[in-house]
Amino acid sequence: MSPLIGLITCSQRSPRAGPQITTFIQTTILTSHPTANLNIIDLAEWNLPMYNEPGIPSYITSADEYVHEHTKAWSREIARHDAFIFVTPQYNWGYPASVKNAIDYLFHEWKGKPALVVSYGGHGGGKAAGQLREVLLGVRMRPLEAERMVQLRFPDREEVIKAARGGEMGLEKEGGFWAGEREGIRVAFAELVDAVEAVDGEGA
Ligand SMILES: Cc1cc2nc3c(=O)[nH]c(=O)nc-3n(C[C@H](O)[C@H](O)[C@H](O)COP(=O)(O)O)c2cc1C
Repeated sequence: MSPLIGLITCSQRSPRAGPQITTFIQTTILTSHPTANLNIIDLAEWNLPMYNEPGIPSYITSADEYVHEHTKAWSREIARHDAFIFVTPQYNWGYPASVKNAIDYLFHEWKGKPALVVSYGGHGGGKAAGQLREVLLGVRMRPLEAERMVQLRFPDREEVIKAARGGEMGLEKEGGFWAGEREGIRVAFAELVDAVEAVDGEGA
């Protein structure tokens, strides 16, 4: 059974480019790894309130200790996955607040799990990716090395504006502007699966 990998759509605005980009990552992986077990986790659908638990997640050992139903549900969702791909935009040189909030709710559910960061932006979102990677280390995840992180750069200002308005970017078309990024995404995905197997090997 392939590991269950959560593809987290980190942007939560409306309209937004995030879902199109998450789908592009999903279809890219499935064309080379057809049995990959990918599940999209859209933070806009989860729409978590700003962190409002009384406890500190790293001190919590059982999901029963969470006070709110939304936290218990989020805990179950993250706990059932083996690894994650964070698909994040860059906002003002950082990652969006939505993903930090979603991470902060939990700790043990993330701990020890491999992760890949895919960022996008006018320059590829590298600053957001670097900062997010640090936070993932903070919750004791195992993010792939920084060189493996995928940075998707909008080709020009028009595409940035179109993306921000949720316009169709034609990413799935042959010759779409990120067609050349597909190989890097597949290589990073293969490494993520290897990292999951390494974790499983430690537990065996
Ligand atoms: C609040 C805000 C700040 C942004 N800051 C940056 C930035 O620092 N660097 C960048 O390359 N693009 C920046 N952008 C452009 C985004 O890359 C682009 O709008 C993208 O569509 C955002 O992802 P989303 O549509 O999934 O939210 C910013 C966009 C927004 C809405």
